[in-house]
Amino acid sequence: MTSSIKRSIIVAIDGYSSSGKSSMARQLAKNIGYRYIDSGAMYRVVTLYAMRHGMIPAQGALDTDALVAALPNIKIDFDVQGDKQFTMLNGENVETLIRSLDVSNNVSEVAAVPQVRHALTAMQQEYGCQRGIVMDGRDIGTTVFPDAEMKVFVNASAETRAKRRLAELVEKGMDADYEEVLANVVHRDHIDETRAESPLRKADDAVCLDNGSMTIEEQNEWLLSLFNKIICAE
Ligand code: DC
Repeated sequence: MTSSIKRSIIVAIDGYSSSGKSSMARQLAKNIGYRYIDSGAMYRVVTLYAMRHGMIPAQGALDTDALVAALPNIKIDFDVQGDKQFTMLNGENVETLIRSLDVSNNVSEVAAVPQVRHALTAMQQEYGCQRGIVMDGRDIGTTVFPDAEMKVFVNASAETRAKRRLAELVEKGMDADYEEVLANVVHRDHIDETRAESPLRKADDAVCLDNGSMTIEEQNEWLLSLFNKIICAE
């Protein structure tokens, strides 16, 4: 039972990389008829743009000045087609490209740039201005929507998350090895947790979920029942 007669709320789902939060968030949005926004995809799009424009050399540091200057040229959209949602960069469907290990290896550096965060936070807040949205990321409950009515913080061990990421990459036909994926997960956790601007952390009023030993169905049920509990109390 969902809550279409109740007022719309904001659902913020934060957590570590590959914790399964995006799948849970997408399924919840579908179940309750809300819009779903994958904020990580937005950081990935900016990273892909930076890579394509030579701002992330193979050896050397990210060219932050060039990236900040280019921000107005990066238009991010989500193309919704039935059940599926594709991330668009300046009108091009980049959904598959932004999930590559190359983008994953560079995205945390890009996401640590304050001007990038400010620009994407403003876009994310725009999506939520009518409420009725499920958004997942790292700082949704702390910075983007500190007043969200429902906040969840998802975690599982780095090893569990690396296995999940590997399975996803293999399913998409991409080349990857477990040790490399695990190293990427641990590296990204570190950058996400220690950056100065909006570091990854649990909002004080978020509900924690360690989903390491839960099936996907159990996670979806848990999330839906939390939503129903919150909406009934509204
Ligand atoms: O959820 P993801 O793995 O697709 O996110 C990609 C990167 O983007 C991740 O390393 C951290 C960053 N990110 C962020 O800093 N803030 C968000 N709200 C979402 C993602």
